[in-house]
Amino acid sequence: MVIFGGTGDLAMRKLLPALYYRHRDGELHEHGRIIGVAREEMRREDFLARVAENCSRFISTADFNEKTSESFATRIDYVRVDANQPADFERLAALMHDHADRVRVFYLSTAPSLFNIICVNLAHANLVTPASRVVLEKPLGRDLASAQLINEQVGAIFEERQIFRIDHYLGKETVQNLIALRFGNALFEPLWTRAWVRDVQITLAEQVGVEGRGEFYDGTGAARDMVQNHLLQLLCILAMEPPGSIDPDAVRDEKIKVLRALKPFTAQDILNKTVRGQYRAGAIEGKPVPGYLEEPGIAPNSRTETFVALKAEIETWRWADVPFYLRTGKRLAERLAEIVVNFRDVPHDIFGFGTTECNRLVIRLQPDEGVMLYLMAKAPGDEMRLRPVHLNLDFAETFKTRQWDAYERLLMDVIRGRLTLFMRRDELDEAWRWIEPILDAWESQQDRPKPYTAGSWGPAASSSLIGRAGFSWREDTDS
Ligand code: BG6
Repeated sequence: MVIFGGTGDLAMRKLLPALYYRHRDGELHEHGRIIGVAREEMRREDFLARVAENCSRFISTADFNEKTSESFATRIDYVRVDANQPADFERLAALMHDHADRVRVFYLSTAPSLFNIICVNLAHANLVTPASRVVLEKPLGRDLASAQLINEQVGAIFEERQIFRIDHYLGKETVQNLIALRFGNALFEPLWTRAWVRDVQITLAEQVGVEGRGEFYDGTGAARDMVQNHLLQLLCILAMEPPGSIDPDAVRDEKIKVLRALKPFTAQDILNKTVRGQYRAGAIEGKPVPGYLEEPGIAPNSRTETFVALKAEIETWRWADVPFYLRTGKRLAERLAEIVVNFRDVPHDIFGFGTTECNRLVIRLQPDEGVMLYLMAKAPGDEMRLRPVHLNLDFAETFKTRQWDAYERLLMDVIRGRLTLFMRRDELDEAWRWIEPILDAWESQQDRPKPYTAGSWGPAASSSLIGRAGFSWREDTDS
């Protein structure tokens, strides 16, 4: 596995610790090697020291030990490569020239502007074999045209079956559990329609701010960073028709149908059904934090959004008129990623209370992974009073094993050539096609994103968006 951007944040924080775990569990091939590649001049020992230091930081003390770290290090090498210098790729080739039959993974954890030149230079150095794979980290472009260009350029060197477009949300255990829940149980599928589902909410809330990535983030914003990919991928898994099998194209064919059925936003919809926000100074768990405009690397008066909420609709028989509320933001009150499926109210209230709370299925990805089903039960006592209770499936408790990090699963899938959890080219196009008019409209509007205080749940307009239908975000109705 050759990691371009080998000294970068993602490699150190996620990729190498993930490979450490897979090494520790004996899942990497005995001759499997990992080559970090970056522009810096660095000796192998220094790279190894950096990897060991980061692994010890990002792996729990219970799982990290010196002996495993040392045996892991024997797999690792470092090569200095300037992506623009074909001659540098020869040095990489010298490390790989034998074993052309082995799986080669080129992980491009770099700016997308380098994807093309890296692929061209890999091919030039004869490094691209039929058993090679390329992994593309997001952001894949900043709009449809730039994404198409990247795909064409990479597609000129690698076949589609060799291209792994990663969305780490799909590697999260709960997302796969959502697939298991929907298609491994007969119970939910009949309920999974407009007849029973009242509304769906997907929230990806973060407490962190831009975290030293100010410059990158300021040119990206929450819609490109989280909605175009992670939120839409979750929406697809939740809303797709049952695929015929778990094969990559069977699943991806169904996902793309959801993307194609997303109702396009008109200019009026963009005003009424989308909210963008930007945090100002506040406090996260009691600690004061600066506002977005005060963060390093942010342009003065930047209009980049750090919060998005929107109402999506899927124009199919299954989902007509069911609102899908999507929301994400930085510096929000909690770190929380969850999908909430609210079911319709009972058709007739025999108790005469006026209202009962709706049944609700919560699929939680973060911080703890689990599934909760909310039902109404009778409160103890002689009176007939109802109270919401929940059945709780806590995966950590049930399976009593460490949950894999998303990157562990996805890296093993790449090595094994399993494409199901990676985005196909046409999926990416469709996602951009849907979101682009929103981005364009925001760009041309003269107003600023709505301010919200760091540590809150976003701008008030987000509650009004969902409130107009008489609903509310889950945290407003439940703790
Ligand atoms: C990344 C975004 O894709 O996902 C980051 O670029 C974000 O801005 C991150 O913080 C969130 O991932 P997770 O797994 O921590 O929820």
